[in-house]
Amino acid sequence: MNLESKYAYVLGLVLGALLLVTSCETKPPTNLADHTLIPHPVEIAGTGDRFQLARAATIQIADASLQGPAEYLIKAQPGMKLTTDQKADIVLSLDANDEQLGEEGYVMNISDDQILLSANHSGGVFHGLQTLLQLIPLSDERPIEIPTGTIRDYPRYAYRGSMLDVSRHFFGVEDVKRYIDFIAAYKFNVLHLHLTDDQGWRIEIKSKPALTAIGASTEVGGGAGGFYTQEQYQDIVQYAADRFITIVPEIDLPGHTQAALASYPELNCDGKVGELYTGTKVGFSTLCTDNEATYEFVDAVVKELAAITPGPFIHIGGDESHATEKEDFIYFINRAQKIVSKYGKTMMGWDEIAQGEIEKESVVQQWNSAGNASKAAENGNRIILSPAKLAYMDMKYDSTSRIGYDWAALIEVDQAYNWDPDSVNATVPSELIYGIEAPLWTETVENMEDIEYLVFPRLLGYAEIGWSPQSIRNWETYRVRLAAQALRFESEGIDFYRSPVVDWEKKDSIN
Ligand code: ACM
Repeated sequence: MNLESKYAYVLGLVLGALLLVTSCETKPPTNLADHTLIPHPVEIAGTGDRFQLARAATIQIADASLQGPAEYLIKAQPGMKLTTDQKADIVLSLDANDEQLGEEGYVMNISDDQILLSANHSGGVFHGLQTLLQLIPLSDERPIEIPTGTIRDYPRYAYRGSMLDVSRHFFGVEDVKRYIDFIAAYKFNVLHLHLTDDQGWRIEIKSKPALTAIGASTEVGGGAGGFYTQEQYQDIVQYAADRFITIVPEIDLPGHTQAALASYPELNCDGKVGELYTGTKVGFSTLCTDNEATYEFVDAVVKELAAITPGPFIHIGGDESHATEKEDFIYFINRAQKIVSKYGKTMMGWDEIAQGEIEKESVVQQWNSAGNASKAAENGNRIILSPAKLAYMDMKYDSTSRIGYDWAALIEVDQAYNWDPDSVNATVPSELIYGIEAPLWTETVENMEDIEYLVFPRLLGYAEIGWSPQSIRNWETYRVRLAAQALRFESEGIDFYRSPVVDWEKKDSIN
């Protein structure tokens, strides 16, 4: 370096530093590594510059299958538009050629004049767009400034779910779609719908019309209940698929069936029709397991449900069948499994199903009994972890929570975040952990506001547990990133719980 260029270099440094000092009040930081992303990406490296992205930014897609993800981005950022120009501001492609990214990972390169987002599959691009959307400030300031750098990201677990109980209280199609949008924003890929329980049957089965005419007519507390027609259910399935989310439908059997028992007398051992139930007790109902009418019923239900469910799973419940003799329960599960297989689906169930002779492909959801999950693991079954003490979003945050239960635990936001799936059940080997799921049971949840209060912000912790490697997860950095999400909750009109363990005033360093 000659003297002149040294001088220019030093001057440049001084000017640069001055610019940084004077601009830090209003400008975003230039270090991508100071992000507030949830879930935390696997690898993220800043290159110290900024990309000025116009509100009317152009998007180019290198593959027709990326039309959907591009349209999703435009819906979220209405000024943006598609172009065929190679020099688009944002280029979406499927040429990552990176095995480690799998079906859902992505690479995003943000330079000072372009964003290149590539993946092996369109689902990876979709998840990458969720990352991009979190990097775009919410203010109306123009242009949008995004720190430059590279993100390489892929999920820890193949199955990252949340469950919504639409039986105890019924939630209509628009509420379910809003819930799907909530989980899509944080890279979940499964919505498990708990469609039937004692208090209500919520899915139309055309060959069994009393299930909805009678069984859907109420809910906890005696409200009007409701159900999805098959067309509405398919609309939900498609809405979820457009967001790379698979619907796992659950028909809870042979217990939790009072709504069905109140609809069809032949399902009852005494042949008399049962009564509708609007309370909150569990474990009192059972289908009559040595009655052939029961299996004809299960066959009819699974047949119709499988035909409108493109995803691989039918969840048969199996939990808390305290009114079923153990031997009858095992007999029932074995037969139900055959029916699920007959219609080309894989059986899922709560951990009690491991007491049956279940096929190796079946998936077991540990909610209560580590012993049941251990038995399933010995059999080679994949395990989904939903330990009630850690992952049940219907548990209260603390004793003052306005709704929720506490029978499993009080689950504050830090407790919801601070667990490693690998440590939940020592007898389940890591390679059999298929993923995690955070259920929301709705005995105390009556409307969307109630859902939002219990789910936000714990849902984001479960998102990070399911997606990010354990080695980079840390409560102290997470709580800062979580505080930054408050702006996003507010912009979506989400009524979240302002947990005292999070300093909500520390706003997004990028926003
Ligand atoms: C359950 O909580 N009964 C699965």
